[in-house]
Amino acid sequence: MNTSLNEVELLKSLDREHVWHHLTPGAAASKGVPMFVRGEGLRLWDSEGVEYLDASAGGVWVTNVGYGRTEIADAIRDQLVELNFFAGSMANKPAARFARKLLDKMPGMSRVYYSNSGSEANEKAFKMVRQIAHKHFGGKKHKILYRERDYHGTTLAALSATGQAERRDQFGPFVPGFVEVPHCCEYRNQYPDAAHYGERAAQAIEEVILREGPETVGALILEPITAGGGIILPPPGYWEQVREICDRHQILLIIDEVVCGLGRTGAWFGYQHYPIQPDIVTMAKGVASGYAAISCTVTTERVFELLQEADADDRLGYFRDISTFGGCLAGPAAALANLNIMERENLVENSRVMGARLLAGLTALKDKHAVIGDVRGKGLFAGIELVTDRDSRTPVEESVAIAIAATCKQLGLIIGRTNRSFTEFNNILNFSPALTATPEQIDRIIAIVDDAIGRVCG
Ligand SMILES: Cc1ncc(COP(=O)(O)O)c(C=O)c1O
Repeated sequence: MNTSLNEVELLKSLDREHVWHHLTPGAAASKGVPMFVRGEGLRLWDSEGVEYLDASAGGVWVTNVGYGRTEIADAIRDQLVELNFFAGSMANKPAARFARKLLDKMPGMSRVYYSNSGSEANEKAFKMVRQIAHKHFGGKKHKILYRERDYHGTTLAALSATGQAERRDQFGPFVPGFVEVPHCCEYRNQYPDAAHYGERAAQAIEEVILREGPETVGALILEPITAGGGIILPPPGYWEQVREICDRHQILLIIDEVVCGLGRTGAWFGYQHYPIQPDIVTMAKGVASGYAAISCTVTTERVFELLQEADADDRLGYFRDISTFGGCLAGPAAALANLNIMERENLVENSRVMGARLLAGLTALKDKHAVIGDVRGKGLFAGIELVTDRDSRTPVEESVAIAIAATCKQLGLIIGRTNRSFTEFNNILNFSPALTATPEQIDRIIAIVDDAIGRVCG
């Protein structure tokens, strides 16, 4: 649909007057934020007709299969005209089909609980942990550990499980029973004397468990690779030890794949890079690449069984939870079409191969720009940490990261960055193009970032 210039001006003024934008300070909003009107693959056009290359998958790691997929739109339409909704207490065709197909990618997992957002998927996991504590541990094993620098969502319990000080600031008091464990970012090593960073960082989790009392701790939630907290890869040996600690203390391991899930890191799921088995996995963004709102909380059969009623008299013993729009059939219909595309186009493999190209290209920029302290990533999921000097590793001011991202945009490239998450570490640029990215697009991302850093930092 062509939108005339006058109509665009009208829509922009309606937006300025009435739409309250996510994560946007009033001063920026009052000047007007860009209005994107069309997309195709990694290409995006704004209301002025300016074209961009999107290396952020829709700003927040969502559009894994790229923009403009008529195949997904058709699948949604066909489903909606047949049946759009019935509450998730009943069965429906796309939910059953997608669950089977998803679980084929997740050996060891066996049940899919549908909802609408990453936050909600995590809330479901937390409620499962709390109910298991009540049913099987006299209410004691109710605490949920989360890690410094990880993010698990915007709702109050998910935010209570988030290890990012600026994100939480001014939203307390928080939900009781959430306890922080130290981060595992080796570039910001808290244990310089330890012989093995990964083992030491895992041991730090056990120290918290022992301090709190293992009989009070029900679960640990971790991102497989930390996303918004700065693209933090787990150090070698970390995950194996974490799983072992959880087993020893009967603690459920929840892995938050809201960002990493569905190919982002060059495997179907981020945790599959490591020799571990989760108890609960949550996912959202890439599940339907933003064509519909859908999230999943996937569990083992054991977790499912722990949440079944004991007998007919046990009126409250099953998982008494609902998500109204978890019954919306557009979600699984879109997710199924999304997964078919990923398989047919071999996008997980492309993420691995193009991700290696992206990481190599960004790493090479270190030779030219002293402001680049560290480059990290796996698959099409990469980050650059900016520092004032490499010896002290002092983070640059947030304004530097903002200026580089803005310059990239002027040069036609959209990238991500840590966004008011920390008091000091808002110094990370991040990259997550759609998994369809070509070598030419990857090279263009690298070239524009090179140019932008040169313009901002000299
Ligand atoms: C790792 C992680 N978990 C959970 C969420 C929350 O997802 P949503 O915004 O869909 O609620 C996010 C959002 O960015 C995330 O990055």
